[in-house]
Amino acid sequence: MVLLNRYAERAALGRLLDAARAGQSGVLVVRGVPGIGKTALLEDAIESATGFRVARIVGVESEMELAFAALQQLCGPMLGRADRLPAPQRDALGVAFGLRAGDVPDRFLVGLAALSLLAEAAAVPDEITSLGRILRLPPLPQVPGQLRGRAFALVEAAYPGDAATGAELIRPLRRLGPELDTFAMIPAPALQHLHMDPDQPVPAHGDGAFLADFPAAAIDILTAVAGPDAGTPLASIEIRHLGGALARPAPGGGAQANIDASYAMFAAGFTPTPELADAVRGHAQAVKDALAPWHASYDYYNFEETPAAASAVLPSASYHRLQKIKAS
Ligand SMILES: Nc1ncnc2c1ncn2[C@@H]1O[C@H](COP(=O)(O)OP(=O)(O)OP(=O)(O)O)[C@@H](O)[C@H]1O
Ligand SMILES: [Mg+2]
Repeated sequence: MVLLNRYAERAALGRLLDAARAGQSGVLVVRGVPGIGKTALLEDAIESATGFRVARIVGVESEMELAFAALQQLCGPMLGRADRLPAPQRDALGVAFGLRAGDVPDRFLVGLAALSLLAEAAAVPDEITSLGRILRLPPLPQVPGQLRGRAFALVEAAYPGDAATGAELIRPLRRLGPELDTFAMIPAPALQHLHMDPDQPVPAHGDGAFLADFPAAAIDILTAVAGPDAGTPLASIEIRHLGGALARPAPGGGAQANIDASYAMFAAGFTPTPELADAVRGHAQAVKDALAPWHASYDYYNFEETPAAASAVLPSASYHRLQKIKAS
């Protein structure tokens, strides 16, 4: 429908959505006499809220005395994800919604559980994985003309579901307005080319680290040591998104049943000469060092390319368990 006038109201709703896109939460109450156009305004805001998930609840006067009635409407469709919540929060929500027996739950705990559940529901599904990288392509004839010798900020993502769901999931990425957009349905074997690693072995060195977090301050520091103005010999500096199923212990998963770090960093460069090998090693180490404040307590052995002790690449509980087994 075409909404007439209401410029101030629409601007206020627009500001709320923009703030949310920037990570700032907010609340706005729209009130007015019956028929004044409240619902029309909200529908208009929903239409402009691309990339948002919309949850609707309806207040019913006769339910006023029922505790958590509205919260139940809000959370009901998301309860499938409740098993991801910490046990006290999951139990509090279960009791509040009459799904399990128990004492009247603490309201603070119920509220916290609802927030955790919303955060879970807002996250992308386990099936999608993504990484961001800075890629510097060498000025070599093998590199296609429009890419040769240039540096890029690159996002890669893979999703093994249907095309429509995949397109919806990457919509926020497309809104960034990429210079090149090569997202497409591809046969599984083509996945090995997604990361554009050379087909043949080439002399190179890389090193990585697990990160417990990667906030804006870490992005700034990474950009300073490896970004456009850094003058680095590194060809690729990437940050992989972990989390999801990786973060949940797999039953029978052995010494390392999960990875609870949030991101993996890997930095690499080509080393055709000993001088370049030294420079690449130095810069890869510099990237690791610069991100030290956010390092997780252990690293990943596949991405650890400088000699490291077992204690550096295993969670400490796993490491101590393995030591005990070895000693017995
Ligand atoms: N700015 C507008 N431009 C065009 N039509 C509008 C506008 N605002 C409201 N309308 C129309 O006016 C009618 C009433 O609006 P709406 O249902 O949004 O009111 P409401 O405030 O939600 O009412 P209620 O309090 O009954 O829920 C609807 O047919 C709606 O399409
Ligand atoms: Mg209405």
